[in-house]
Amino acid sequence: MFGLERVLRALRTERRTAHAKAVVTGAGSGIGRAFALELARRGGDVLCADIDADRAAETVALIEQLPTGSGHSVQCDVSDRGAVALLAEQAQEFFGGAPTLVINNAGVGIGGKPVGDIGFEDWDWALGINLWGVVYGCEVFTPLLRDAGRGGIINVASAAGFAAAPSMAAYNVSKAGVMSLSETLAAELNGSGVAVTVLCPTFVKTNVFTDGRITPGSMNLSQQLARWSGLSAENVAARTLDAHDSGRLYVVPQIDASVIWHLKRHFPALYVRGAGLVGRLLPKD
Ligand SMILES: NC(=O)c1ccc[n+]([C@@H]2O[C@H](COP(=O)([O-])OP(=O)(O)OC[C@H]3O[C@@H](n4cnc5c(N)ncnc54)[C@H](O)[C@@H]3O)[C@@H](O)[C@H]2O)c1
Repeated sequence: MFGLERVLRALRTERRTAHAKAVVTGAGSGIGRAFALELARRGGDVLCADIDADRAAETVALIEQLPTGSGHSVQCDVSDRGAVALLAEQAQEFFGGAPTLVINNAGVGIGGKPVGDIGFEDWDWALGINLWGVVYGCEVFTPLLRDAGRGGIINVASAAGFAAAPSMAAYNVSKAGVMSLSETLAAELNGSGVAVTVLCPTFVKTNVFTDGRITPGSMNLSQQLARWSGLSAENVAARTLDAHDSGRLYVVPQIDASVIWHLKRHFPALYVRGAGLVGRLLPKD
């Protein structure tokens, strides 16, 4: 009996990212676009949501060039609670029922200023998209998946959620919140048939550094680090979907992210002192 249950569970999880009925936020660029295309390659139907309708439509046009999968674009600002509620309605209409996978990916970059100089307008902007956007996505879509008793949620956090890098407080706080939310959700959904995964990359080459509110010096450094990091958005998306299929909660895809993760867990106070030292050595804008 135990063996049969394991086989049934394996079959169920294997299918999670294959032929998915997926909602991807921030699907018009970078990691979100890579998720949408990879899901389509796996035979999925993807509702590509983005604040920028043209970018979302471009992603759908790319999906249409693939031999498998289908896509549909929709404009949605995830920092708008009503817009995310509407997205859930549109998803149910598009799929003829609940989606099987929701990827709360939309996010923006912010950095280069220390606490005290960030300003509340920038705090509100960053937390509104990066944290509240994911809160809305989880709050609105979780009941649909829980009632269906299957599927999954992937939240895109960042290694910033645990790295506490100086001059990135608003981003760090938003991503730490996404990690905590994902961990809580995973505990709450344990045994429900719905899997939760949280993605925590360091630097990936996308538009996040140029489109956000990052000071010029920090933007240059981030772009340089993204060039060195070695993992493309496509690679990160595929690895995350595979990890989700095997039921993994945390995806820490790069070596530097993994080193930071272990240092912080095992030597938290020493780590923070080290981060402070590195922060003082970095160029100021
Ligand atoms: N690129 C990296 O180095 C990196 C590292 C760690 C985490 N992340 C996270 O990955 C996610 C995707 O970022 P990316 O690197 O692909 O960036 P990106 O800028 O290439 O793509 C982000 C997409 O989100 C959309 N977007 C922005 N604000 C939105 C809103 N309010 N509502 C809906 N869509 C919105 C943008 O239009 C864009 O299409 C983000 O959550 C980001 O914080 C990125």
